[in-house]
Amino acid sequence: GKVLLAYSGGLDTSCILVWLLEQGYEVLAYMANVGQEEDFAAAEQKALAIGASKVYIEDLRREFVEELIYPAVQANAIYEGVYLLGTSLARPVIARRQIEIAQQEGCTHVSHGCTGKGNDQVRFELAYYALEPSIQVIAPWRVPEFFNRFQGRNDLLAYAAEKNIPVVQTAAKPWSTDENLFHISYEAGILEDPNVTPPKDMWKLTVDPEEAPNTPERIHITFTEGRPTKVENISDKTVVTDPLELFIYLNTLARRNGIGRIDIVENRFIGIKSRGCYETPGGTILRVAHLDIEGLVLDREVRQYRDEHLTPALSKILYNGLYFSPEGSFITSSIAGSQKSVNGVVRLKLYKGSVIVEGRYSETEKLYDMEESSMDVHGGFSPLDSEGFIKIQSIRLKKWKGQQ
Ligand code: ARG
Ligand code: SIN
Repeated sequence: GKVLLAYSGGLDTSCILVWLLEQGYEVLAYMANVGQEEDFAAAEQKALAIGASKVYIEDLRREFVEELIYPAVQANAIYEGVYLLGTSLARPVIARRQIEIAQQEGCTHVSHGCTGKGNDQVRFELAYYALEPSIQVIAPWRVPEFFNRFQGRNDLLAYAAEKNIPVVQTAAKPWSTDENLFHISYEAGILEDPNVTPPKDMWKLTVDPEEAPNTPERIHITFTEGRPTKVENISDKTVVTDPLELFIYLNTLARRNGIGRIDIVENRFIGIKSRGCYETPGGTILRVAHLDIEGLVLDREVRQYRDEHLTPALSKILYNGLYFSPEGSFITSSIAGSQKSVNGVVRLKLYKGSVIVEGRYSETEKLYDMEESSMDVHGGFSPLDSEGFIKIQSIRLKKWKGQQ
């Protein structure tokens, strides 16, 4: 059979590639560019050198930003109150392209290097099956002949030496990472003790907030129906409007100002707890800005229903790998409908790890009435109406008195 392997160029998936050849498969390698820092050309050469019959390198950054990241911003998607879902968000675009190539190439199988303990195996495989029900999945880390043979990194290194798999001689980092345009994750290794503070040199996408510039930077972000459509740097007059470039630029700004680091213990879908550290630079700025502009322009009830239902639903769907599902399709299509009025500009100050809102305005909003909200002018409605409102609201409370 023919198998399309999601390949990273690293030790694990290189050994998997060669092991699949050993099992008698023809192996094609697939690398998704979702914005991670990677020498794709070198990885391509390596895959070919160790026996891949073909290598696909696919730039998926634009669809990642437009189809996954911006809808997540519109929904204020967040898992367990802190995790902005960076890894979860990239999986649907990666899996989708893998299935398309597998279909095109007549591959009966797809394969990946996820462990048997994590979320990613679930996310990839549920996406594969939703998009191509007949696909067969090889997950070597769940295949006894594989995981019994390779107990750890040393076994993989020995196999690599035996099979002439080139190993880049950088000292292995004592944690595992997953990087894309939206974030980087750090898990496992020395981070498994949730009380171990990550070393300063672990963080890769942002400067230490303590070392960020002493002068704040000021930017304006324009939202159109809940999507960021323009970023303006007030200090140096940079203006960016292209959806992909805009996100990359926000990453640059957040990086130098130390914005977007978190350290959490989260609940994985399969039921185990896991400690993770994350950097989500641009995404953290967008979250603050988007939440703020909604305050000005979004109807109260629309906001409440969205917050109570759509936000947690989408977050869970993404985390659990159910983007391609009936509920995923239903919930994602509902998000846009909540954002029609989310048009306006948020003015922000970026300073030493913080995103500080300094003001906001909208040319189109009709909900905020300065006169109506003012403490200094009468108008809009009579104070007597408020008195009636409180009286009515209190009817049941007065009956409750003495019954507790
Ligand atoms: N815990 C995060 C999540 O489930 C990050 C997973 C990182 N994945 C990886 N293959 N290193 O979304
Ligand atoms: C893995 O298990 O392969 C990485 C972590 C995860 O998927 O949650």
